[in-house]
Amino acid sequence: MNLDEIRKDREKWLNWKNIKPLRDVIDSLEDVDCAYTLGDVVEINSKDTLDQKKIEDNAKVFMPWRKGPFKVFDTYIDTEWLSYKKYNLLKKYFNLENKTVADVGCNNGYYMFKMLEDKPKKLVGFDPSALYKSQFDFINHYIKSDIEYELLGVEHLEFYEHKFDVIFCLGVLYHRSDPISMLKSLKKSLENDGIVYLDTFMIDGDEPFALCPESSYSKIPNISFVPTIPALKNWCLKAGFKEFEVLETSVTTIEEQRKSDWIEGQSLDDFLDPNDKTKTVEGYDAPKRVYVRLKR
Ligand SMILES: C[S@@+](CC[C@H](N)C(=O)[O-])C[C@H]1O[C@@H](n2cnc3c(N)ncnc32)[C@H](O)[C@@H]1O
Repeated sequence: MNLDEIRKDREKWLNWKNIKPLRDVIDSLEDVDCAYTLGDVVEINSKDTLDQKKIEDNAKVFMPWRKGPFKVFDTYIDTEWLSYKKYNLLKKYFNLENKTVADVGCNNGYYMFKMLEDKPKKLVGFDPSALYKSQFDFINHYIKSDIEYELLGVEHLEFYEHKFDVIFCLGVLYHRSDPISMLKSLKKSLENDGIVYLDTFMIDGDEPFALCPESSYSKIPNISFVPTIPALKNWCLKAGFKEFEVLETSVTTIEEQRKSDWIEGQSLDDFLDPNDKTKTVEGYDAPKRVYVRLKR
């Protein structure tokens, strides 16, 4: 697979009718002397006097904002997800100092910005979304990190120019129609002593079964499989991983994923059965996640 050809082709996505206005905003951003802090909110500050209204208007052009939150000078981007809840859950299990790290399905790069605090050797994000790349470019205009953002998917990872010490693949597996192939690609893309951190929706059960939702799961249309933990373990072993360790499980709450002014449309509360919040509107168990660590 020739990644450079794919990259060249995908550069053209940035000229799409819905993306071009975002690129124009990025091109128009002034150079500001700023600093950043990486708490639960990724915050950009400056002592300069700035046109705060313009900054807020610019940030709004990139809606919907899913992952965050961010604060860009006076503008608080109250994203749909409070992504620090997931990040904080995992943080105690990793230290990325001097590591070569991939975040697959990185969205707008919120986790990668947070990972800068560990001082990794290299950080590469993979996500085939021109919108999320543009959000990343907007934030990174101010943060000025050397994070690389590839408009590529997990299906391209094994053809990437080098392997990784650590791969994060969070919230992607259930979107893949062939989860074992995806896991094999992750394994091929790891250094020999590399580690994968992965999370996925799960269903409860002691048997190695997976739910295959009919049309949607929690109103998300493109969900292929939601496994039990034993099924997920078997997928990982079939993909060739030697170690499978469950780190955490969590139920997604309406505190973590909710409607905000920075997204259009609905959020988790609308995706659950109004009479029984333990079920999705489709009648499946409400979203629950498992976080695992894999070694090859
Ligand atoms: C549910 S979000 C998860 C975002 C983030 N990793 C998290 O856990 O909060 C799924 C992300 O996967 C991205 N995605 C879609 N297709 C993909 C693919 N083929 N390879 C990698 N990521 C993909 C989407 O654009 C989106 O940002």
